[in-house]
Amino acid sequence: MRAVQVVELGGPEAIVVNDVAEPEAEGPFGPQVLVEVHAVGVSFPDLLLSRGEYQLKPEPPFTLGVDVAGVVRSAPEGSGLEPGQRVAAVGGYGGASEVAAFGTDSVFALPDRLSFDQGAALPMNYLTAQFALATRGHLQAGETVLVHGAAGGVGTATIQVAKGYGARTIAVTSTQEKAAYAKAAGADEAVLVEGFKDAVKELTDGRGVDVVMDVVGGDLMTDSLRSLAPLGRVLVVGFTQGAIPQVKVNRLLLNNTDVRGVGWGAYAMVRPGFMHDQWAELVPMMERGVIDPPVGATYALEDFGQALLDMDARKALGKLVVHVR
Ligand SMILES: NC(=O)c1ccc[n+]([C@@H]2O[C@H](COP(=O)([O-])OP(=O)(O)OC[C@H]3O[C@@H](n4cnc5c(N)ncnc54)[C@H](OP(=O)(O)O)[C@@H]3O)[C@@H](O)[C@H]2O)c1
Repeated sequence: MRAVQVVELGGPEAIVVNDVAEPEAEGPFGPQVLVEVHAVGVSFPDLLLSRGEYQLKPEPPFTLGVDVAGVVRSAPEGSGLEPGQRVAAVGGYGGASEVAAFGTDSVFALPDRLSFDQGAALPMNYLTAQFALATRGHLQAGETVLVHGAAGGVGTATIQVAKGYGARTIAVTSTQEKAAYAKAAGADEAVLVEGFKDAVKELTDGRGVDVVMDVVGGDLMTDSLRSLAPLGRVLVVGFTQGAIPQVKVNRLLLNNTDVRGVGWGAYAMVRPGFMHDQWAELVPMMERGVIDPPVGATYALEDFGQALLDMDARKALGKLVVHVR
């Protein structure tokens, strides 16, 4: 079968499509679900894995691909999954292939109203958004969430999950085109990153926001803290800008605010059943249409590397998805 592989840690340009053996129903850690993959999401971990810069460091050659959507080929007895069932699934890597294997804990029934492309946009970003907002952010209905990188994958997911929880959302983006994309994804308001603090104060009558979702890092942190209302929380999710910000903790006591780390994978992967509970929380939002993942562009399997280059060049709108079959 065909699989998108890293054979040397040379970044997106060095990625190849290889012919590899199909996975077995009995995996190294026991019985596993085999999924005939239709679509695979393109994500930041793929970019970092291709360069050997991710926290997981598999030995090349290995297959990329974190999120997939497709059809169950076979499933362990008692898993609740049936051959032929439409699913979305998530793993550390290895999904970008015609058939991929997953533990039962990380395979989810895909509601009929969502396409395979949308399914491939769902697991990592939406489960991260749910974990960030609910478990770490203690978001309440009626609160206001500011979302950095709001037109991206985690950004659009955060907008929709926050809406699902009855929050008001303010998108922050680098361009007007991305602002329009974030609004189309469901944001109530959108402001440009340049001068976002003042724009947010104006939109909130000087009060500030309750939660900041930050996937960008770098030099945004100080103004994010200044944008918080009393008891506000900054959720640290990623560092797409590259730099890791420092926090002067006196700012936290001045306004009774928090900076909270969000490591969804580290938490979810070691708690059996947790991801299924999260998915169950999101399914009603999918059925209501509040969760309707925006897919910015689709690519052929051979162009997985190009999709990563586009993401790295900050061109991605919503989730980028690669078609496998
Ligand atoms: N902690 C966790 O549990 C967790 C889980 C999933 C993902 N993540 C992390 O979240 C981050 C975002 O992932 P994503 O899938 O949403 O990525 P994405 O779709 O590419 O969106 C990231 C956004 O970051 C902004 N950005 C600012 N500076 C950038 C730069 N130099 N290069 C690229 N983008 C830049 C861009 O928005 P503007 O152009 O509008 O600024 C872009 O839309 C990644 O770092 C990922 O590893 C963390």
